[in-house]
Amino acid sequence: MGISTFWVNQRRVSLSLSPSQRVVDLLRRDLSLVGTKEGCREGDCGACMILWGRREGAQTLYRSVNSCLLPAGEIDGSHILTIEGLSAEGTTPVQKALEEAGVVQCGFCSPGFVVALTGFLLNSPRLDSSLAREALGGNLCRCTGYASLGRGIEALCSLWEKGEFEESGRSGLLARMEWLVARKVLPPWVPSLAQALPDPPPSSHRRGSLPVGGATDLLVQRETLSSPLFLSRKPSLQGIRRSGEFLSLGGGVNLEEFRLSPLVTDLFPELSTALLSVASPPIRARATLAGNLVNASPIGDLSLILLSLGSSLRLVKGNSRRTLPLERFFLAYRKVDLLPGELVERILIPLPTEGSRLFFEKVSRRERLDIASVNLSALLLLKEGRLEEARLAAGGVAPVPLLLSKTSALLLSSPLSPGLIREAGETAKGEVTPIDDVRGSALYKTHLLGRLVAGVLLRLAPEQAPLLENLVLEEKGG
Ligand SMILES: Cc1cc2nc3c(=O)[nH]c(=O)nc-3n(C[C@H](O)[C@H](O)[C@H](O)COP(=O)(O)OP(=O)(O)OC[C@H]3O[C@@H](n4cnc5c(N)ncnc54)[C@H](O)[C@@H]3O)c2cc1C
Ligand code: FES
Ligand code: FES
Repeated sequence: MGISTFWVNQRRVSLSLSPSQRVVDLLRRDLSLVGTKEGCREGDCGACMILWGRREGAQTLYRSVNSCLLPAGEIDGSHILTIEGLSAEGTTPVQKALEEAGVVQCGFCSPGFVVALTGFLLNSPRLDSSLAREALGGNLCRCTGYASLGRGIEALCSLWEKGEFEESGRSGLLARMEWLVARKVLPPWVPSLAQALPDPPPSSHRRGSLPVGGATDLLVQRETLSSPLFLSRKPSLQGIRRSGEFLSLGGGVNLEEFRLSPLVTDLFPELSTALLSVASPPIRARATLAGNLVNASPIGDLSLILLSLGSSLRLVKGNSRRTLPLERFFLAYRKVDLLPGELVERILIPLPTEGSRLFFEKVSRRERLDIASVNLSALLLLKEGRLEEARLAAGGVAPVPLLLSKTSALLLSSPLSPGLIREAGETAKGEVTPIDDVRGSALYKTHLLGRLVAGVLLRLAPEQAPLLENLVLEEKGG
């Protein structure tokens, strides 16, 4: 326990806190701010959403996050905006838009929706209803229905002139805040409070500490975190930069930062849309790349993507460092090559050859906020009818995220043809050992993988589709 000082709405709070206490409990039980609701306590429903402001370098950023998965040890020096704070000066335009569209029945989910939409107005480059819908990807409502929500979003996005909104964000978050204050979306004290926030204190490393990235796996798997080491405050684990022939990503980079980084989207333009199928905006705003790797789920989306990109890891313990190809990191089910106390400091992705393309496929029961039955990531370079590079990785089909090395090698062996596409699908099926579970039978997953492999090759070379169809018809006829 230590004394933490932070701001909740307009109030400065100093409290002795357990670092692993969840912020939703702090708000509801200790501070009696019960507008923030608790539903699932696992990051799935959005009822507990808050806006979390924190100094990052020269600026303060506000993100919508799930307070049920935010450990109190992270909030020293930061600012929490809850529904009580947002509506302190009266009903806001966001609340009015939802209310007038009839979005509110029992109202349990409403604070989360208001917070998420306010976060959207703070951070979005455009006043666009499709972006507003994406921002609500982590919020569930059990009674009203989403048609009225859609109407509420349209009404909100037509309140102001779009060009004026875009302009307000051009010179940074503070200007956007002032613009929103003038329109009573935010209370007037927010910009000055945001500007006055201190830098978060550095994290202290003790022997036996538990590394904590975004805690989006840890706080689902366990109730408390003993002796946590908060990696968000370790500068060496942050940032995305080019370093020689590599793109170097800090292990503590969160998935939304990764998705929106201009350096990443410049090299892999497909990623920003593909990553929309991973978790939800508030989870992506916290979940880190290293957390996804160390968690070593066989269906970890980032593990697959980073495998197919040929990544290696820079691991650090004290002053000693080692580098390891990612495919050697995954040893067995949920077991990785990491020494006690060792951290994933950086992830190094070789710069891709010009013309190579990244494909990511995820089959899950729901399009958003669901984990995969089977997922596939592939980096492919096709030149004059032949694959010059092929690296495929699959999830949900083995105890670990799996590099499909035989399939990848086969694809380089001869010109791309319907026969090769078919053989690649069959080879992939032979490389895997899925199990029956709630996400599908082993047989289903095996066949699905074969289809996904053929599917990405056909997306790369669509002219092969009719040829493949002819081949299948000929065989059936014969
Ligand atoms: C609602 C919800 C939806 C989700 N959806 C998806 C999804 O669609 N796809 C998906 O792949 N995952 C999903 N996840 C899982 C999770 O969000 C990801 O695995 C995430 O990337 C984990 O990162 P984290 O920083 O939160 O990890 P944490 O929970 O902080 O840590 C996970 C593990 O990694 C260790 N660790 C963290 N950082 C480091 C480091 N730098 N060095 C050494 N060890 C470290 C921790 O000690 C812990 O053992 C979802 C989770 C939730 C709650
Ligand atoms: S309580 Fe459901 S996301 Fe936090
Ligand atoms: S209005 Fe009842 S859960 Fe959404």
